Amino acid sequence: MPLNVADFEFVRTLVSKRSAIVLDSEKSYLVESRLVPVAKSIGLATTSDLVAHLRSSPSSGLHQKVVEAMTTNETSFFRDIHPFEAFKNVVVPDMLKRRESTRQLRIWCGASSTGQEPFSLAMLLRDDFPCLKSWSVRIIATDLSDNVLEKARRATFSQLEVNRGLPASYLVKYFERRGLEWRLKDEICSMVEFGKLNLIESWPAMPPLDVVFLRNVLIYFDVPTKKQILAKVRAGMRSDGYFFLGGAETTLNLDDKFERLDFDRAGCYRLKSK
Ligand SMILES: C[S@@+](CC[C@H](N)C(=O)[O-])C[C@H]1O[C@@H](n2cnc3c(N)ncnc32)[C@H](O)[C@@H]1O
Repeated sequence: MPLNVADFEFVRTLVSKRSAIVLDSEKSYLVESRLVPVAKSIGLATTSDLVAHLRSSPSSGLHQKVVEAMTTNETSFFRDIHPFEAFKNVVVPDMLKRRESTRQLRIWCGASSTGQEPFSLAMLLRDDFPCLKSWSVRIIATDLSDNVLEKARRATFSQLEVNRGLPASYLVKYFERRGLEWRLKDEICSMVEFGKLNLIESWPAMPPLDVVFLRNVLIYFDVPTKKQILAKVRAGMRSDGYFFLGGAETTLNLDDKFERLDFDRAGCYRLKSK
């Protein structure tokens, strides 16, 4: 049974206020199915009971749980491959030249979900750019959801997860078996710093960024929110930095200070020179 209109509206407003994720009315079955486990986890029989509970205790941690339940955490190693190829073939070689004097590289992976994306970048850097070992390289990975951050920090993946996009050579080199699962070796884990960052709240201080990955998250937001987030990305990037969006995302008609680079389907942007 889907939520009644008033309860759906309550959840829609809560999720929008706290994450900017837009829930259309036709998503009411999806919302219901994602709320059932949250209701059960606190011993409530129905999602209507859950909404009643949310209404009566506005400051409980349950609100965050509901917002997290509405996030889509789909990800995989080297997802969509093209951005990673551009990163390897163009972006890092260019940065090696541009940052030769400081030998510092700062990468931010926003909305990083369970960690496959930043870990893919870390493995790629370790594998293809051994010279970076003597550089100061930081990969900062953030998400809104405590759940996914906890899983990312465990750096432990199922067989199914490592079967999706991870080259066999990387599995052999960088993972060790833990029972039925695979744990990333510390040499890769230690390259990624995970932290919480809600894109619609104020952002914690980050160093000026050389490369930003913010993929497959803007699609969930309305136009004003996308514009605000793109402006914040711009402010956080170095003027010669690179910015990657997801395959279904663009800065077009949202922020004219970015220009798209002509890398094959990589969704890569730079700031226009003034
Ligand atoms: C579909 S995943 C994308 C994961 C990864 N970037 C990729 O492309 O494979 C979207 C992620 O965005 C996060 N997210 C949604 N709203 C957010 C917000 N307001 N602030 C930060 N992260 C958010 C979700 O928790 C989820 O992990």
